[in-house]
Amino acid sequence: MTKIPVAIVGATGIAGQQVLSALADHPMFEVAALAASERSAGRNFEQAITDSQSGMLRWYVGGEPPTEALALEIQDARSLRLDGVKLVFAAVESEAARELEPLYARHLPTVSTARPYRMEPDVPLVIPGVNLDHLAIIGEQRKRRGWKGYIATLPNCTATGLAITLKALEQSFGVDAVVVTTMQGISGAGRDLPALDIVENIIPYIPREEERVAIETRKILGRIGEGAIADLPIKISATCTRASVLAGHTESVAVSLKQPATIEQAIEALEAYGRDFTSLGLPTSPRHMITVHRNPMRPQPRLDRDTENGMTTSVGRIRPDEVMPNGIKYLLVSHNAAMGAGRGAVLLAEYLVHAGLVST
Ligand SMILES: NC(=O)c1ccc[n+]([C@@H]2O[C@H](COP(=O)([O-])OP(=O)(O)OC[C@H]3O[C@@H](n4cnc5c(N)ncnc54)[C@H](OP(=O)(O)O)[C@@H]3O)[C@@H](O)[C@H]2O)c1
Repeated sequence: MTKIPVAIVGATGIAGQQVLSALADHPMFEVAALAASERSAGRNFEQAITDSQSGMLRWYVGGEPPTEALALEIQDARSLRLDGVKLVFAAVESEAARELEPLYARHLPTVSTARPYRMEPDVPLVIPGVNLDHLAIIGEQRKRRGWKGYIATLPNCTATGLAITLKALEQSFGVDAVVVTTMQGISGAGRDLPALDIVENIIPYIPREEERVAIETRKILGRIGEGAIADLPIKISATCTRASVLAGHTESVAVSLKQPATIEQAIEALEAYGRDFTSLGLPTSPRHMITVHRNPMRPQPRLDRDTENGMTTSVGRIRPDEVMPNGIKYLLVSHNAAMGAGRGAVLLAEYLVHAGLVST
């Protein structure tokens, strides 16, 4: 198969580096262009991620950066040359994304990890394996905006593991209400969180995160109708904190189900979830959307975030909740920058190709 040339915008950042790493030796895609801010433009990738004072490589994925990427020139994202490119991965800071993504989407499919367009009614907010049917809204987006391409977004990384597990429960038992408390990894905040604030600490507030988790999760779990997505009307109460953990978001979740379920039935629903999707065998797909642990000492971010390359959601401590009607509760760990951002974006792009939504 001839590989599909793609561009990565925000290649120097945490999410962009995950895209770059997932595309090393990729069977479907080849990296044709890299871009970032004007601070990095004109340098090659290696120079752009080398700290000018210490000489340290600011590479945030495990192992070494792909050798073939080191010499690639970083272009200015505003004037990125799209000739020959068939799809854009956009993984840039939010304000920049608002301006940049339409420049690409006018011409090409653009898979975004950023926030600005997630809640637009004609933009799909998708988790591979959860709500790919929402991609049908792309036709409406193209028509409304007169674009040849489109924007397809991934959610806030805190919503990812939550929505995956809720979808599994919703389709088996129905979900009425959710209380979630998060302990989020540092890398979810990008490269620049000051170390002295977070080491040996818990930051009790992440601005606007709790509202986003609620509204994005309702949209992801919603139903696609005629040219619109109707939110799933569930009550969600979120408390989001930042913990002294490098990567991986840990979330304590209590769910009020519509129909009662035993713990064994809940485990069965979680373990069986997503087989239709994983059996497609897409190159970056996890083998299991959800991995259930019986050992009460799991999941832990350090032990479980990288399971299946950070693409599975690890769940454990599944037990009854006696406060909520038909209540069950559990802990989950989900890799914020892998399934929650860069690798999730690559998986979504693989599905877009599979579904004929990328011209090859
Ligand atoms: N980190 C995660 O786990 C995660 C999870 C889900 C979603 N996201 C979202 O993904 C996006 C990237 O996050 P990140 O964590 O990778 O951030 P990051 O590590 O801080 O990297 C930011 C990237 O954006 C680029 N950028 C900043 N301002 C720009 C501008 N004006 N024009 C063009 N490029 C610009 C940076 O380029 P320079 O190197 O040139 O500054 C860098 O490549 C954000 O929208 C974030 O909310 C992140």
